[in-house]
Amino acid sequence: MNILIIGAGGREYSIGLALQKDKNVGKLYFAPGNGATEMLGENVPLSDFEALADFTEAHGIVLTIVGPEAPLVEGIVDYFRERNLTVFGPTAAAAQLEGSKIFMKNFLARHGVPTARYIETDSLDEAVQFIATLDAPIVVKADGLCGGKGVIIAQSHDEAKVAAAEMLAGSSFGDAGTSIVVEEFLDGYELSVFAVCDGKDYVVLPAAQDHKRLLNDDQGPNTGGMGAYAPTPLVTDEIYAKLDERVIRPTLKGMEAEGYPFTGVLFIGVMVVKGEPIILEYNVRFGDPECEALMPLLKSPASELFYKAAIGDLKNATIAFYEKYAVGVVMVSKAYPYKSSPPAEIVIDEIHHEALKGESHISYAGVSRDEDGKLYATGGRVLVCVGIGDSIKEARDRAYMLVGQVHFVGKQCRTDIAYQALGEG
Ligand code: AMP
Ligand code: GLY
Repeated sequence: MNILIIGAGGREYSIGLALQKDKNVGKLYFAPGNGATEMLGENVPLSDFEALADFTEAHGIVLTIVGPEAPLVEGIVDYFRERNLTVFGPTAAAAQLEGSKIFMKNFLARHGVPTARYIETDSLDEAVQFIATLDAPIVVKADGLCGGKGVIIAQSHDEAKVAAAEMLAGSSFGDAGTSIVVEEFLDGYELSVFAVCDGKDYVVLPAAQDHKRLLNDDQGPNTGGMGAYAPTPLVTDEIYAKLDERVIRPTLKGMEAEGYPFTGVLFIGVMVVKGEPIILEYNVRFGDPECEALMPLLKSPASELFYKAAIGDLKNATIAFYEKYAVGVVMVSKAYPYKSSPPAEIVIDEIHHEALKGESHISYAGVSRDEDGKLYATGGRVLVCVGIGDSIKEARDRAYMLVGQVHFVGKQCRTDIAYQALGEG
């Protein structure tokens, strides 16, 4: 089958890589793709839904997989379904779980899913009153999609009031700041849990952990994610069971009952506080870089997971994962996450380590390719070095061996990915 993947990041590259290994898959297309997805298939410079749907019809594409949240929130799945095209992702109504924090928070309250105490408001007075009832640190969030930057963890009551006032005045996050959420700070460890859903049935993937801060020891500014690994031993069978019973099932039932059955990937951002999973947020897509760590663990054909979910037939799918670990280390450009950096040529040493062959690879993200086929770092998150192994330590060693082979001016990465799992924190 020919497949179109919408998106341009390392997430989409890693999905492409998994599909490329699958003998059921014919040609891959990426819209718009990046400088490296061209090596897996063909890049298509389209973003308009109608033009994309026309393209899929003209090229015998039987499945479209939507990577990022923006086209989902804008209704690409609704449009493709109207055109009778098979597409993997949630409808615009279901994508509100990510598109609007206020929708998500109210949904959690309606269905009794545990989350932090919060209020939503567009009134500064109300925000200030609620802030006074919480202990610092205090979390202040803008509604809407802010590319992960709409969250401030204020260290004092005064800082929280200033953040709330700025967001409400629209000075920090533009239109996304007209309503805000103020919430209690959850003190625990964070997980990324993914359920691939077809509207009725679902498959839970091995739990992952991302590392959002730029620097080692979770210091520095928040980023899109500096590295991830899976499965994490921090999720015990008991926590998986609690997640299933208290979070995933009530959420999917609730979505169905409210008239928007969830299809695609439900990404559950969880904080485990004293052994109890509490929901931080939902996203309606794979995490990036979590996807880059999860795709190589998929043992059954990738097309089966995506296609059967898209046609509502997961109950007839047999989805299996390798009993291995994957660690992905993100390499970012010099000025990330503050501003863009000048293009820098990427040079990769020839791989001699036996241990790396077949047990490591690169998922490319912010890269461009020139006419000679040379790759340049042109985005913030440039690429992800992924190592696979029988233990987290082995997978991590392989990922960092590969990091050592990759060169571009200004490269940065964390050197402590998976530190919590390895008891180093
Ligand atoms: P969000 O955009 O809601 O996912 O928040 C971004 C990041 O801020 C999360 O991944 C957490 O690391 C942190 N965060 C958000 N809300 C809370 C909270 N209530 N308590 C602690 N950390 C939080
Ligand atoms: N890695 C977190 C995210 O994709 O939002």
